[in-house]
Amino acid sequence: MPSETSIFQPPVNISRCSYICNLEEYKKIYLESINEPEKFWSKIAEQFHWETSYNHKSFLSYNFDISKGPIHIKWMEGASTNLCYNLLDRNVKNGHADKIAFYWEGNHPDDYSKGLTYRKLLEEVCRFANVLKTHGIEKGDRVSIYMPMILELPIAMLACARIGAVHSIVFAGFSSDALAERMVDCKAKMLLTADGVWRGEKPLFLKALCDDALYKAEILGHKVNKCIVVSHFKRVSECRQDFQSQNIPWNEDRDFWWHDEMEDKESACYPEWMAAEDPLFMLYTSGSTGKPKGVLHTTAGYLLYAATTFKYVFDYKPNDVFWCTADIGWITGHTYVVYGPLSNGATSVMFEGTPFYPDNDRYWQIIDKYHVNQFYTAPTAIRALMKFGEEPVKKHSLNTLRVLGSVGEPINPEAWMWYYRNIGKEKCSIVDTFWQTETGGHVITPLPGATPLKPGSATLPFFGVEPILLDDGGNEIQGEGEGFLVFSRPWPGIMRTIFNNHPRFESTYFSKFPGYYCTGDGARRDTDGYFWITGRIDDMLNVSGHLMSTAEVEAVLTEHSKVSEAAVVSRPHPIKGESLYCFISPNAGESFDRKMIDDLKKLVRERIGPFAQPDVIQCAPNLPKTRSGKIMRRILRKVATNDRDIGDTSTLADENIVEVLFANRPENI
Ligand code: WT7
Repeated sequence: MPSETSIFQPPVNISRCSYICNLEEYKKIYLESINEPEKFWSKIAEQFHWETSYNHKSFLSYNFDISKGPIHIKWMEGASTNLCYNLLDRNVKNGHADKIAFYWEGNHPDDYSKGLTYRKLLEEVCRFANVLKTHGIEKGDRVSIYMPMILELPIAMLACARIGAVHSIVFAGFSSDALAERMVDCKAKMLLTADGVWRGEKPLFLKALCDDALYKAEILGHKVNKCIVVSHFKRVSECRQDFQSQNIPWNEDRDFWWHDEMEDKESACYPEWMAAEDPLFMLYTSGSTGKPKGVLHTTAGYLLYAATTFKYVFDYKPNDVFWCTADIGWITGHTYVVYGPLSNGATSVMFEGTPFYPDNDRYWQIIDKYHVNQFYTAPTAIRALMKFGEEPVKKHSLNTLRVLGSVGEPINPEAWMWYYRNIGKEKCSIVDTFWQTETGGHVITPLPGATPLKPGSATLPFFGVEPILLDDGGNEIQGEGEGFLVFSRPWPGIMRTIFNNHPRFESTYFSKFPGYYCTGDGARRDTDGYFWITGRIDDMLNVSGHLMSTAEVEAVLTEHSKVSEAAVVSRPHPIKGESLYCFISPNAGESFDRKMIDDLKKLVRERIGPFAQPDVIQCAPNLPKTRSGKIMRRILRKVATNDRDIGDTSTLADENIVEVLFANRPENI
């Protein structure tokens, strides 16, 4: 009986027809990609359209060593192309006009569903590109997008790409404050949104939230002049019997309905030819100092990398149906709902709802409905679904599945085994894909059909990626060992800068170990050279696959007028992976009570979003600090897990604090 510690050989039926059939073949191609990256990637570039061709000599230039000058990464300098052209026009020209690009599935199974062909998608994208132009959007302008998982979202992204505008998508679960801050930072010219959306039984009124954000952005000093709104809530609600029309707040000078704007637009639009290193999009990710970073991806390299990782990691074949459950508001959705699948002419499912509505078998039902071959989700979803046992799974056949993906955090071996047995029926390859918003695509991952699997390990590097482990002193660790996970050279999909803040890009990623891009993760390499990600080494934490920084949450908590200091640590959580445990020092004379706890939770929801809400807030009359005033989070983590084995406390300014903290732990947690 195979168990969590077994090695799982690639299923024979998969290796027989996969692109890469065994480990030897992987190793051979991997070595080619490392030894001659220009040759490797230029061969891949041949399948795409280049308006201006590339030159083999200037295919790659970079500097990762800050002591030698500014950090830079350039792929395919001199070439020009257009992402949208490669994703749509090229596929239409190659005979895939009538192929489905997306099957759209709504929140409720009785809502309408829809298939969109490559031809129709191209037409819609061109019409919306013409809308953008009419409203004065030009190459290089930033367009903020705050939308639910509806087809207008990829249409808007590709319309931006077509005219060279830079999309900046904000996940539609972020608060109005978070959206305002991001619109101000990127100086957005326009905001795209929808009236609202149903999430399970809950209506969410996005336009009202956007109005709030637009108002706040103006107060912060940046006015966004236009807002285009998809009437989505209305069209889905009309299918429901309890539909009551909603009054959507409106500003006649600024707001426009998507359908009105699209009405008279032409369904053709000449693409803007972009230089290889022109920006494609930016996407904010949490930074350990609190302020979000606008991670910037560019044109040619991102195309090559999204396309290649999608093809090999999911072993996507032309008639397959792929489904990535991630929201497009995160990088996983950018690369593996939109850019990766479309660049391969793939058919994929786009789902608006949640795994639990109307029942806990919604995912499994959709897999059968669309005959999904590759399914890509997050460990937190798997753990949440495991709770309901095998019954909901058994109602469905799931027999079209071939590859099961995992992303966002380390997958614990127990969840891996459940996924493998109950969803994959021991016949599917599991791909535990390690990557980051910054890496653009998978960097450490198995390949179905080639890589023997060990539950919990992201296994081996993707083509062109050379992971290195460093010790505390910055020395490279050879062979088995554990250390900081870094990279000493770029692959095409790596980020190029932080929008408007190149110094922060250099200091965040390249200053800790000169010469290396530092991921912020720790990793272990075993005797077989397999990588096991051990988690963040900075003050970042990962709640249900959402990366956030403790500093970001602390900054919000200390905004409260009765709080003098706050410290946040991560505590393991059975479903979310990690959860937030907060220590609060109230101002002198203020009492710590239920109301304060509720107010603080509300404040975090408002400032960041509901997913960031702390699990525990406890009173800490004082925080454990060193004599120099640095908070010792190690001790707070022990208090959070009620672990009395706290180790050395001699560097604490006041050792008595520890007992007080344990005594103040709330009951029943
Ligand atoms: C951080 C990046 C990559 C898209 C979603 C998250 C953690 C991600 C794995 C994995 C272990 C993982 C890392 C990484 N992470 N995938 N397969 N195994 N850890 O993107 O928000 O930029 O977060 O997520 O800590 O640094 P992100």
